[in-house]
Amino acid sequence: MRGRRAGSIINVASTASFQPVPFMATYAATKAFALSFSEALWEENRAWGIRVMALCPGSTETNFFKVAGVDTPPSNISQTPEAVVETALAALARGKGHVISGWGNFLMAEAGRFVPRALVTRIAGMILRKRYKPTEVNGKS
Ligand SMILES: NC(=O)c1ccc[n+]([C@@H]2O[C@H](COP(=O)([O-])OP(=O)(O)OC[C@H]3O[C@@H](n4cnc5c(N)ncnc54)[C@H](OP(=O)(O)O)[C@@H]3O)[C@@H](O)[C@H]2O)c1
Repeated sequence: MRGRRAGSIINVASTASFQPVPFMATYAATKAFALSFSEALWEENRAWGIRVMALCPGSTETNFFKVAGVDTPPSNISQTPEAVVETALAALARGKGHVISGWGNFLMAEAGRFVPRALVTRIAGMILRKRYKPTEVNGKS
């Protein structure tokens, strides 16, 4: 790509890139990596005319939830894959280093900047604990 002075890479990250996600700890940590890695490569390669972007979708209507063995989220908070791809390609054309798909997802992800990280993690834990029904620890679930 550097030789051609052209090229585009989209790494699929997630809204989970923006905060720890208890009960999906490894998943969210890999998505934080994908976001940070992509943004660094975006800056390193801009001078070569190469576009690198992290795409950060929220809930999207794919096989993801079935494969993960968890409940599908309500359709009113999910996007279609087509809408996510449209957002991604428009952001790539504008030369963005990352894009969060959907206004609701954008507000949720960015809101985390304004509150303590511990609170964000506790809230994520409260939401995910209900969905993942972890086994009991010390009499508490
Ligand atoms: N859906 C969401 O709500 C959501 C939200 C945020 C981010 N994402 C991200 O979006 C990306 C795509 O997920 P999706 O929602 O489209 O889920 P999906 O419908 O389950 O698709 C996952 C795809 O990855 C392929 N795959 C899985 N393991 C693989 C492996 N080891 N090597 C090669 N290919 C493999 C699967 O191929 P096979 O079908 O052949 O197994 C499938 O085509 C993922 O990175 C996910 O983390 C999804």
